[in-house]
Amino acid sequence: MMGEIRAEHASIAELVPSLPRRLLVAGGAGFIGSAFVRLCLEQADPPAVTVLDKLTYAGNLANLAEVAEHPRYRFVRGDICDRALADRLAGEVDCIVNFAAESHVDRSILDPDAFIQTDVYGTYSLLEAARKHQHQRFLQVSTDEVYGDVEEPQLSVEGDPLRPRSPYSASKAGAEMQCLAYHATYGLPVVVTRGSNTYGPYQYPEKIVPLFTTQALDRLPLPVYGDGGAVRDYLYVDDHARGIATVLARGEAGQAYNLGQGGQLIDGMKVAETVLRLTDRPASLIQYVSDRPGHDRRYALDSRRAAELGWGPELDFDAGMELTVAWYRRRRDWWEPIKSGEFAEFYRRNYHPVAGAAAPG
Ligand code: NAD
Ligand code: DAU
Repeated sequence: MMGEIRAEHASIAELVPSLPRRLLVAGGAGFIGSAFVRLCLEQADPPAVTVLDKLTYAGNLANLAEVAEHPRYRFVRGDICDRALADRLAGEVDCIVNFAAESHVDRSILDPDAFIQTDVYGTYSLLEAARKHQHQRFLQVSTDEVYGDVEEPQLSVEGDPLRPRSPYSASKAGAEMQCLAYHATYGLPVVVTRGSNTYGPYQYPEKIVPLFTTQALDRLPLPVYGDGGAVRDYLYVDDHARGIATVLARGEAGQAYNLGQGGQLIDGMKVAETVLRLTDRPASLIQYVSDRPGHDRRYALDSRRAAELGWGPELDFDAGMELTVAWYRRRRDWWEPIKSGEFAEFYRRNYHPVAGAAAPG
């Protein structure tokens, strides 16, 4: 199959027998969390899944519509910072998988407060609940951004120091350090995943891939930060979700695991060009805008530790982007209401075109 880059990995069906039987998935109505929930519930004899989600601007029950009637699924609307609620729900499960977070770097620069609250205090609230109920597992979904800017040709390995440089990545680093401290101090069987920049269906259109795709479909500008040369390690969402399941089933307590696509490091201009090609739009849609303050120039992961557990990505960037752009083309019903609402106000606050910067072509 085109774009398939590695075939020898544990399938989710193989992993299911090793997963805890009752999962509390915090933040399961967001982009990656909902992919993980759908993946689990598609399996024969899946674990029972309770989703706890506040339904912020980024949470959306439409992401879980496919599983809404599944007998092993239930949804609870609530805040992970609510200690009493976290405690009650933790008492009904064996394990917490924590996706819940404020997740967008640009919003963290405009307004860090919610990031400290949810990502730092909220993680503490879940850890305390898991500790009290002696959970058999706690998985914290973290990010490659905790390593900070990584110079060429270095690849980050799990033992590297954490050098976060944005309010978002600092809040995520704080969260995962608490998790690892709960392992060292209380013996809570915590595992951490550090995923790279993820894209695919159901991603809120503030992140580069869905933003550029929906802008291009509407013949609107694609706002490239700075010179468009910042590099990311783009990972398709189903590969990321399967990586999380792999670490949940097989990871060693007290360890972190990088989950990166590997091999292909893609800059902002390449994302823009790929979207324009797949949507058949002209290069004149590219618009240079002011750079992100403190913009990390490069993230790049060495994911061999996760590979040793039997994980590897299935799709390369071109294959993942084809699926993604086709999905956004089909699912205007999902993204049009989002872009006309709260998002429009964020866009006005965040983007400042650079006067005189010419679009290529
Ligand atoms: P997202 O913004 O799409 O989803 C976050 C979800 O958390 C939403 O459903 C939101 O309603 C919920 N939430 C927020 N605050 C909450 C609170 N206080 N209580 C309960 N629920 C709350 O994010 P995503 O892109 O799916 O990311 C999921 C996780 O993966 C995050 O922890 C993020 O840091 C991490 N991550 C994301 C990427 C990426 O590229 N998107 C890569 C690596 C790691
Ligand atoms: O690397 C993992 C991280 O990836 C996750 O932890 C975060 O939750 C997720 O938001 C993502 O962070 P990034 O900042 O890398 O993603 P974003 O899509 O915002 O930006 C990707 C690159 O594209 C970055 O170099 C900035 C650039 N960019 C982004 C936007 C939104 C642009 O040039 N223009 C844009 O409009």
